[in-house]
Amino acid sequence: MQAATARAGANIALVKYWGKRDARLNLPAAGSISITLADLETRTTVSPLPDLADDELLLDGQPASAGRIVPVLDRFRALSGCDLRCRVETSNSFPTGAGLASSASGFAALVVAADTAFGTGLDLARLSEQARLGSGSAARSIFGGFVEMAAGCRVDGHDAVAHPLLEAAEWPLEVVVAITEAGPKSVSSTNGMNLTMSTSPYYSAWVDSVPADLDRARRAVVAKDFGVLAEVAEASALKMHASALAAQPGLIYWNPATVACLHAVRALRDAGTGVFFTVDAGPQVKAVCLPGQGARVADRLADVDGVVQVMESRLGAGAGVLA
Ligand code: PMV
Repeated sequence: MQAATARAGANIALVKYWGKRDARLNLPAAGSISITLADLETRTTVSPLPDLADDELLLDGQPASAGRIVPVLDRFRALSGCDLRCRVETSNSFPTGAGLASSASGFAALVVAADTAFGTGLDLARLSEQARLGSGSAARSIFGGFVEMAAGCRVDGHDAVAHPLLEAAEWPLEVVVAITEAGPKSVSSTNGMNLTMSTSPYYSAWVDSVPADLDRARRAVVAKDFGVLAEVAEASALKMHASALAAQPGLIYWNPATVACLHAVRALRDAGTGVFFTVDAGPQVKAVCLPGQGARVADRLADVDGVVQVMESRLGAGAGVLA
């Protein structure tokens, strides 16, 4: 056993995942399509140590609860036959828990580091499966560029894994993240999905609408058709939020600055800039831009009332070992 460090980029879904067919295995009710980011990343070191009684987590240098990572490490212990507990040190290059997919890059980096630390040598599909067990969206951060996650139909979930659609270098879109609230999000994705599934009258309509969006988005990615991708992605985000808004009590993830950013993105597009928006389970707005247009979009969103920070990212590679 050896210490191993891995990195993984956050990812942003263009066709959203919102709802599970199996909560225990994190099996999605429908597929999803995402882009993996280069500049919003998690770096994680897993050190199996003989003198530890329990797994330990240091998040951005501070001791944190290891509750969600213990089951992941348990599976690598079972696969390798090595029972050592681990010290896990992880840091994000972006605000943790603010709707910026830190769980996606976090679990992807964790499983890749653990795979090397425990010498299990899993292939990418199995790493994607392990990441999914930590967080549904993490399965996609194993791969770079444009990525599709399959809903799968097996009860054991072996077919609910991600695969790459197009390399980042083939269509180097840019992403601007407008942060409209720096604190942690009010309702986690897991709780938000559960509430939507159990109470929203629009939940089944939402799930039924996803396969057609996946077909259209997949074709748009392969054809590099930005106009069609913009239409599908904005509609997918708005439909996801519509299903959540209709839950009991309704989930309002947005604040006034979120809505102002959506209007600003549409105004930019009407004026000829290649940009569209998407929003996850939080108040931050992600603007996806044609190559070369990110700086202009970042300048405009930084001027929107209530935007506290703007970050820019290129698309990037999948998760990988650093040392
Ligand atoms: O991976 P989770 O359980 O944090 O869920 C992610 C849900 C969304 O970010 C809202 C959508 C998505 O597909 O990433």
